[in-house]
Amino acid sequence: MSKKLITAALPYANGPIHIGHVAGCYLPADIYTRFERMRGEDLVFVCGSDEHGVAITMKARKEGVTPQEVVDKYNAQISDAFERFGIRFDHFSRTSRPIHHKTAQEFFRKLYDKGLFIEKETDQYYDEEAGQFLADRYIVGTCPVCSNENAYGDQCEKCGSTLSPTDLINPKSALSGSAPVLKKAVNWFLPMDQIAESPAFKEYAKRVEGWKSNVKGQFKSWLNEGLQPRAMTRDLDWGIPVPVEGAEGKVLYVWFDAPIGYISATKEYFEQQGNPDGWKAYWEGDAELIHFIGKDNIVFHSIIFPMMLMEHGDFVLPTNVPANEFLNLEGNKLSTSRNWAVWLHEYLDEFPGKNDELRYTLTSIAPETKDSDFTWKDYQLKVNSELVAILGNFVNRVMVLMQKYYEGQVPGGVSERHTELLAEQAKQTAQITKLLESYRFRDAQSEWMNMARLGNKFLADLEPWKLWKTEPEKVAGILTDALNICARLAILGEPFLPETTQKLKQQLGLSDKFTWADAGKAELMGAGHQLGAPFLLFTNIDDEIIEKQIAKLGQMTEAQNTPTEETNPIAPQKAEIVYDDFAKMDIRAGIILEAVKVPKADKLLQLTVDTGLDKRTIVSGIAEHFNPEDIIGQRVSVLVNLAPRKLRGIESQGMILMTETDGKLFFVDPGEGTTAGSGIS
Ligand code: 2FM
Ligand code: ZN
Repeated sequence: MSKKLITAALPYANGPIHIGHVAGCYLPADIYTRFERMRGEDLVFVCGSDEHGVAITMKARKEGVTPQEVVDKYNAQISDAFERFGIRFDHFSRTSRPIHHKTAQEFFRKLYDKGLFIEKETDQYYDEEAGQFLADRYIVGTCPVCSNENAYGDQCEKCGSTLSPTDLINPKSALSGSAPVLKKAVNWFLPMDQIAESPAFKEYAKRVEGWKSNVKGQFKSWLNEGLQPRAMTRDLDWGIPVPVEGAEGKVLYVWFDAPIGYISATKEYFEQQGNPDGWKAYWEGDAELIHFIGKDNIVFHSIIFPMMLMEHGDFVLPTNVPANEFLNLEGNKLSTSRNWAVWLHEYLDEFPGKNDELRYTLTSIAPETKDSDFTWKDYQLKVNSELVAILGNFVNRVMVLMQKYYEGQVPGGVSERHTELLAEQAKQTAQITKLLESYRFRDAQSEWMNMARLGNKFLADLEPWKLWKTEPEKVAGILTDALNICARLAILGEPFLPETTQKLKQQLGLSDKFTWADAGKAELMGAGHQLGAPFLLFTNIDDEIIEKQIAKLGQMTEAQNTPTEETNPIAPQKAEIVYDDFAKMDIRAGIILEAVKVPKADKLLQLTVDTGLDKRTIVSGIAEHFNPEDIIGQRVSVLVNLAPRKLRGIESQGMILMTETDGKLFFVDPGEGTTAGSGIS
């Protein structure tokens, strides 16, 4: 049996984990790992926090603390949230650990010694006031494509163009605001263009053919566009020092060191097990390497890291990279910087004992092939009409009837449907297995729920409660058959809903020792087996709870609209979008017809806006900046296709676009002569 090393992307220790991260890679990795463990596979599941790079230093600057304080804080918060949520890593490490620094430096040194890197002097922006080179994100200027004055050194948020810092017009340092100067700096580049032409890479590319289409698509598109040498070292003061003479003050590129974190985490795990060489068997020979990641990490895991591994030569290449696309929240992109998120630690605090409700919902909408959307209403629907009404109801009916008729002791026997019922369950079991093997967790879970549906239909068709008085021997067979469905659900459901299936086994009086293969047995519970006491597996989620969560998101938006004390001359860059994301927005010129204050909300105005399409209500967080009577007749730009949401009980049907300078808000004026309804693009 070949050994398997399963990894989930190392999260940056610069913020908490939200449901997008969970759905993107941690939950699928956990489901897969639990499934493979139940099949008896020899595997190790590693992760850890990614503690280097600009993501960390920018956060430190924003919070006014040191990078070390940032990573310590978020590493603790992230690992605690994973633990509480039941993501069962064998080991969760940190890239700040000495074992990782040593492993990453040795890795770099090996590639350096074989002469792989191209040593190149390039012009880098340098902030003379701050006395340091500037990472791309620390440079802002005017986009040469769309003239956006707040474009970043690597990308323009407005038009989506990928940029180099030297493309910017009037570049400025985000550290000091001064104009940076160009200074020569030597860095070491991975010759990706050359490696892509090597026989080893071409051989590796064949295996990518069998991967998920979203991963294959990105892989091919990067290759088709033509790869360029990429710098593997950076002029920064936060990271792993480059282990080469003459490289003082330089660190390894975070995307060079982070994936090596998978190796160091495996090493650290085995060291802690008292078997310091044990890790090798999971990285060599016929070991399988499976990376669970989100779509923004595809190029690094399908191209750059494999190139590094193949050039190093001691390690296996990835067997598969089952990446997911993105999860949105209530129709908008999840965003750490804009605080548009359901934070895992907050969910755990606010919904104690309901981990599986979130697991179930997230798997049912997993963005496996395309982006998907989490809404609180959908969460409520999935819990109430699937977990409660289908699974919970089936188990409860069987358990209650068993207590009533047999005091919880399995009577034995079979029903008249026994053979066809078993055949159907065998088909479903095979299907669930096949889907899990091919990383289709969404369909696998749905097929599992179909088994509970089968159980409900079976009971509804044979109606044992009507037969009890007249034909009790039939009831024995029916309930024994139904109990065996419950037991099979408990085994097959463990990867998806580990806490629920644990409770289910407890009620059924079953041990925890089942393997996946046990699900194939016809009889899981025979005559005489004593059940435990029945209790409800799930309870309904009330409207009130959902409304509270939706309102909380609204409050976040309100807060966003309000300038904070911490006036940063340059707002941090939001999460990256592609042109299609932008094109989805329908922005129109509009006129404010009416404006009134929202009672008991200092910041909110209720507006009636003529959008040309209709006259609609929009609630806007601008009350501290404008008198209602002053803005009647104001020309505005309106995002008209934003999903409606309730703010203080009023449904807001769009958003008014504003700009903010020095704490003052201004309307984004579509311009004189424009009429309501004109499109803005
Ligand atoms: O995108 C991210 O959050 C990165 N920190 C993922 C790194 S994955 C791996 F390479 F470590
Ligand atoms: Zn631009």
